[in-house]
Amino acid sequence: MKALIVTAHPRQDSFTQTLAQHFAEGVNASGHEVEIADLYGEGFDPVVSIQELEGWKEGKISPEIRAWQERIKSNDALVLAYPVWWSTPPAILSGWLQRVLTQGFAFQHIAGRTEGLLKLRAQMLVNIGSGKREDVDLATLYLEPMLGVLTYCGMEILPTQANWGVYAEADAASLRAHLDRAFENGVRFFA
Ligand SMILES: Cc1cc2nc3c(=O)[nH]c(=O)nc-3n(C[C@H](O)[C@H](O)[C@H](O)COP(=O)(O)O)c2cc1C
Repeated sequence: MKALIVTAHPRQDSFTQTLAQHFAEGVNASGHEVEIADLYGEGFDPVVSIQELEGWKEGKISPEIRAWQERIKSNDALVLAYPVWWSTPPAILSGWLQRVLTQGFAFQHIAGRTEGLLKLRAQMLVNIGSGKREDVDLATLYLEPMLGVLTYCGMEILPTQANWGVYAEADAASLRAHLDRAFENGVRFFA
């Protein structure tokens, strides 16, 4: 089995990239494969243009987006690793979902109902700057829109690894615990 891990962070030494790497090592340790797609590193353009928007009405998909779709299809699973930025994923990841998960590829409408077409296993690895607060359901606030997208497209979603309290001055032991958990989730991912 093989997982596509999509990462969305501009810094190569970010906690997000390190976390994705630990998850990948876990998957490899369980005898499965991974491919990491670093959206910043690959220079992905997240902006939906007017030409693209109009083209969708005629089922037109650009070669660049087709290549992404082929990449997804050549994998058994999709993992999204990103930090929370103003309660949402970085724009580059939102734009990637908007441009790549097109109708006819990721979902279709049949007889008045929607069918998800991506029979992939999926998991999110999410870094959140703030510490866990008991008065607010931050998981609902931050994660539900993304979970909604993956569900809509037919994916089987494993519990999100939400890492609270990830910031520059956080204590090393708690960051280490997040990385260990990512490795373990990677090991378990295809089990
Ligand atoms: C533009 C921006 C917006 C952010 N918004 C939030 C937020 O809404 N809630 C939160 O808890 N942390 C927020 N943070 C903190 C990030 O979640 C935190 O920096 C990140 O998890 C650290 O991991 P990294 O090293 O991979 O960036 C924000 C950070 C940036 C740069």
